Amino acid sequence: MAKIAILGYGTVGSGVAEVFWTNEKLIDERAGEEIRIKYVLDLRDFPGDRVEAVLTHDFSDIVNDPEVTVVAEVMGGMKPAYDFTKQCLMAGKSVCTSNKELVAAKGPELMRIAREHHVNYLYEASCGGGIPIIRAMNESLNADDLSEISGILNGTTNYILTEMTENGTDFGDALKRAQELGYAERNPEADVEGYDAQRKIAILSSIAYGKTVYYEDIHTEGISGVTPTDIEYAKKLKMKIRLLASSFREKGKYYAMVAPVLVEHTHPLYSVDGVFNAIFVKGNMLGDAMFYGSGAGKLPTASAVAADMIQAVKAGDTVLYSNWKEEEADLSPLDSSSRRFFVRVPVEKKEEAIRVFGMDAEQVNLEERPEETALITGIMTEQEFEQKAAKLGGILGRIRINM
Ligand code: HSE
Repeated sequence: MAKIAILGYGTVGSGVAEVFWTNEKLIDERAGEEIRIKYVLDLRDFPGDRVEAVLTHDFSDIVNDPEVTVVAEVMGGMKPAYDFTKQCLMAGKSVCTSNKELVAAKGPELMRIAREHHVNYLYEASCGGGIPIIRAMNESLNADDLSEISGILNGTTNYILTEMTENGTDFGDALKRAQELGYAERNPEADVEGYDAQRKIAILSSIAYGKTVYYEDIHTEGISGVTPTDIEYAKKLKMKIRLLASSFREKGKYYAMVAPVLVEHTHPLYSVDGVFNAIFVKGNMLGDAMFYGSGAGKLPTASAVAADMIQAVKAGDTVLYSNWKEEEADLSPLDSSSRRFFVRVPVEKKEEAIRVFGMDAEQVNLEERPEETALITGIMTEQEFEQKAAKLGGILGRIRINM
């Protein structure tokens, strides 16, 4: 029999317990042995909850118990999750987590400590909630050279953008609705400014490219500047504005960014609406593939943590393969990457804008807004675009176009 522990009985932690209690029989069958929760750590009490039988307020009960071989860290944040994770790994216990902040900041170090102690640090739930993308990238896509990963990795912002698109609401009202429905936090900064997606794409890029991509190096823009007018233009263009977290290779260089991007109606990510997440990958053998599902929420996220725990139980002291190495990836500044841009200018700047952005720029007008015009530029680097935009001056807005 394997004994496991859960650090944190919040949304995800109580979900992990529920997964093990609800699916006990089939999990035992699949694991090849009984798996039982011996401890759940939380500072709070939960009178009347089944967890009372295994609840502890003392981390040392878990770390000092040799019977516990696998631990779920579902506390979130850095403190005390980082310290607790290290202590568990050093005590020879595998740790499975949903904590993207900790994985993005300390993943390579924690994986090294795990290897040194013949255990595993697994983090399937850190990206895309219940979508099995980490294991797919570490195992199923191992024969491929991946040149692009583009994801809708944040459900809150995707809900807000979907609401703005479908109901014509502005950003503030859509955010309020997302908060009322419990999708957005009271302090929504990490989601709407792209920091959550930034950590997730750092993790996925590190696996795809086999070296560590630090989230601080990823160019990140949020969605708070997206306006209903931008959305109207997008509709006219048969595109949708999505917060894309992308990492891609262009002329041998690696780039990563998080930003609102216009997605064409022919792209698989176009139809990903509401709180759903999706990850699109391009491999040199596989071609295109997309992984779609619930990117957040108690049970989808818990399901991924529980699956990692089962894998860790089965692995025992075998260290599982991971593409992600500690060496730093050579990420290029976004300046030299190329794409088309959607740019809005006051109507009096129309002729000059066409001259500056090139005669091949396509023009888009909205009847309701005769005072402005918009252009889709030809393919140019970020740096070229910034130079041209500065030369023209007075730009009303710009959005990158997914290629
Ligand atoms: N705040 C995140 C989201 C939750 O909206 O997708 C999952 O990391």
